[in-house]
Amino acid sequence: VNGNHLIRQGHRWLSIAFTLAVVVNVVALAQQAQSFWIGLLALVPLILLMLSGLVLFCQPYVARWRGRPAPHGRRV
Ligand code: HEM
Repeated sequence: VNGNHLIRQGHRWLSIAFTLAVVVNVVALAQQAQSFWIGLLALVPLILLMLSGLVLFCQPYVARWRGRPAPHGRRV
């Protein structure tokens, strides 16, 4: 198991946590019971999703960049 795989799995499960938190938020909204911490319930996983998602986005470019030989033919 490498770091990239862990980030992808983390992103997967965070997406479920975020989805559930959105449902909780909508229910709270319908019952007019919104509160700051119920909002945080969705905001915290969303921020973590954004960070892990940006890492996932960069992965293929970083892999290509690492795999490309240096100008003198040396691997970097
Ligand atoms: C907030 C900013 C987010 C960014 C920048 C982002 C970015 C990404 C990227 C780059 C990938 C990988 C795509 C690939 O395979 O090349 C990905 C996968 C995925 N994202 Fe996001 N994402 C974000 C938010 C979310 C949210 C809100 C959800 C759902 C609630 C979500 C669910 C998923 C799932 C399920 C995958 C597939 C994971 C897997 O490979 O098993 N993401 N995301």
